[in-house]
Amino acid sequence: MLKIENVFSGYGEKEVLKGIKTEFRRGRFYAILGPNGSGKSTLLRTFAKILKPKRGTVLLDNRDIKNLSAKEIAKKIAYLPQMSNSVPHSTVFDSVLLGRKPHVFFEPTKRDLEIVEKIIHELGLTQHALRKIDELSGGEAQKVLIARALAQEPEVLLLDEPVNHLDPKNQIEILWLLKKTTNDFKIATIVVLHDINLAIQFADYFIFMKNGEIYREGDLDVIGDVLIRDVYNIDVKIIEVNGSKFVIMKS
Ligand SMILES: Nc1ncnc2c1ncn2[C@@H]1O[C@H](COP(=O)(O)OP(=O)(O)O)[C@@H](O)[C@H]1O
Ligand SMILES: [Mg+2]
Repeated sequence: MLKIENVFSGYGEKEVLKGIKTEFRRGRFYAILGPNGSGKSTLLRTFAKILKPKRGTVLLDNRDIKNLSAKEIAKKIAYLPQMSNSVPHSTVFDSVLLGRKPHVFFEPTKRDLEIVEKIIHELGLTQHALRKIDELSGGEAQKVLIARALAQEPEVLLLDEPVNHLDPKNQIEILWLLKKTTNDFKIATIVVLHDINLAIQFADYFIFMKNGEIYREGDLDVIGDVLIRDVYNIDVKIIEVNGSKFVIMKS
């Protein structure tokens, strides 16, 4: 559904992405991995049409996104940037409701309100629904932004390091919810993650970025000590416990 053909992208003269070619399918949870500066955020910005590719095309359901209006894109793609320090001053409920905007014609329908309520409940935010976001903790505020992206009911969900500011329990809860949403609604979920073990636990498919290129991609089988060493320049040991892979950092 989302097809990337030979994409070069960057900022001004600075070339960051150098010939990205890959495809994302419905009902799959993708983890984007790779060291700082490898181009993960630039990749997501290019998919969300925040950045225009210098060369190559991003196809959404076989249509070049450069020909799609902002509203058409917002109906299909939800994008949550890497955590910024500025959070909106509105209430939790209103912020999540904003996610419905691409679908709303005149004013929100009963269904819009029900969707918002359900997502707020699923993310455990009900007790905060009428509070202002800037009065919440960083982790709670991040959950609100994730809730807004889900309320958008996208076909492609792009999340840039969504769980970095959350405690372990919230990280797992959010990733479970994202995985369930991916399967239930057959969307393509593309998440930048730093924690390789969390990625292994939740993702179906892994894309390793290095120096603006896809260094390697594939299912769980691609993850091995040599690959991790090549991509991150760290020594690791991979162990298996109860049939699950774990990456252990060596000091
Ligand atoms: N707004 C920007 N203007 C200029 N260069 C940028 C900008 N954002 C990122 N870069 C550069 O692009 C490269 C890739 O950055 P980024 O995509 O943010 O990497 P990652 O998300 O993998 O850490 C880095 O060298 C970074 O300095
Ligand atoms: Mg980034």
